[in-house]
Amino acid sequence: MKIAKLAVDNSFSKKYKGIGTFMIKYAKRFAWACNTTYCAARFLTVDADIEHDKGVLTFYEKNGFIPNAELFNKNRKTISMRKDLYK
Ligand SMILES: CC(C)(COP(=O)(O)OP(=O)(O)OC[C@H]1O[C@@H](n2cnc3c(N)ncnc32)[C@H](O)[C@@H]1OP(=O)(O)O)[C@@H](O)C(=O)NCCC(=O)NCCS
Repeated sequence: MKIAKLAVDNSFSKKYKGIGTFMIKYAKRFAWACNTTYCAARFLTVDADIEHDKGVLTFYEKNGFIPNAELFNKNRKTISMRKDLYK
C-alpha cells in the first residue's frame, strides 16, 4: 500500500510534534484493517521526496522505513522506501 502524499501544515507542525508519525501509524492500521477484509498488503511504501528536504529520509527511517534497492533510478528527486507491516 503506497503513501502518495504526506504533509503537515506548517502552522500545526510548529505547534504540535508527532503529527507525521501519527499519520504513518494511521496508514499502518488502515492497511491492517484492509487485510482483514479485501486486500493482502505486506508493506507500506513511499517515494520519499528529497528534492525539497533531504531530512524526510530521517523522518521515514525513524518511522521504520528502509530504502529499497533500485536498479534504475536516474530521478534522484525521490528515494523508494518500504516498511514491513509485520515488524
Ligand atoms: C515530513 C513531515 C510529514 C513530518 O511530519 P512531522 O509531524 O513534522 O514529523 P514528527 O513530528 O512525527 O517527527 C518524527 C521524527 O522525525 C523527525 N523529523 C521530522 N521531519 C524531519 C525532517 N524534515 N528532517 C529531519 N528530521 C525530521 C523529527 O525530528 C522527529 O524526531 P524525534 O522523534 O527524534 O523527535 C512534515 O515535516 C512535512 O509535512 N514536510 C513537508 C512535506 C514533505 O516533505 N512530505 C514528505 C513527502 S514524501
